[in-house]
Amino acid sequence: MTVVVETRAQLAASLAPARSAGGRVALVPTMGALHGGHAALLRTARSRVRESGVVVASVFVNPMQFGPNEDLARYPRTFDQDLEVCRAEGVDLVFAPSVEEVYPGGEPQVTVEPGPLAQVLEGKTRPTHFHGVLTVVAKLFGIVAPDLAVFGQKDYQQLVLIRRMVSDLCMGVDIVGAETVREDGGLALSSRNRYLDEEQRQLALTLSRALEAGRVAGDRGGEAVLEAARKVLGQADGVELDYLALTSPELGDAPESGHARLLVAARVGTTRLIDNTGLVLGRNQQQGSS
Ligand code: PAJ
Repeated sequence: MTVVVETRAQLAASLAPARSAGGRVALVPTMGALHGGHAALLRTARSRVRESGVVVASVFVNPMQFGPNEDLARYPRTFDQDLEVCRAEGVDLVFAPSVEEVYPGGEPQVTVEPGPLAQVLEGKTRPTHFHGVLTVVAKLFGIVAPDLAVFGQKDYQQLVLIRRMVSDLCMGVDIVGAETVREDGGLALSSRNRYLDEEQRQLALTLSRALEAGRVAGDRGGEAVLEAARKVLGQADGVELDYLALTSPELGDAPESGHARLLVAARVGTTRLIDNTGLVLGRNQQQGSS
């Protein structure tokens, strides 16, 4: 049965029996507007803790991670449908707190400083975003005290930063990164895709196509990867590129050969989209890491 709780006290009370019986707790943080990508995270969480464990999904649109000119007010809120997704995936607890419950007394005085990795890529256009993300994720870890938490590779920089926070601040939560779920044409599922009209949806496919072109060029080296991806992006009028970057898996400088990450962000109309893929650079390397 899926139980909805709105307060920290209710959550603690609901978790207590399973915890004292030795069950593991898996947390899947979300901002709602759930789609197949979120559902996959919920399934990953269940497979990690098995039936004896507890799967908690949090649904909270976190004001602190939205910049002043971003889409906080128009961010989709679809709680009834979200609950259906959680029920279908056998989630035990849905934690859906109010802003006051998470931020009593407004923005906290003590917050998580995300460090230099938050200033690159997404951080260039969204300079305060990861400060808000890491602060709320730290709070959720404090509230739920999960054994593990599942995040999507779709938001790759977020995943890297969360791993880094857990490691640097010794939080003791096992972080699981789940693969990006895509539509048939390759478009990564996103809550923001619903802002796209049909023509824009076609243009949005350029992002995953560019990444795929880059990935298959991996055996010819980093420059060839970027060139192949740029070529695809350059053919799409109406896709306003923000960045295309080739990095190491930890978002440092790309290696000459071996595992790397290719990341892209672009605007289609007023909607900002991001995507990324894993790839292998250099000859005779195995392809297809994601
Ligand atoms: P949200 O955008 O709702 O995403 C919740 C989780 O779903 C994130 O871990 C995200 O990477 C994952 N996700 C989104 N689309 C996906 C896809 N197509 N395939 C696989 N996973 C996907 O990310 C956030 O919320 C917030 O920043 C949050 C971590 C909840 C903090 O507020």
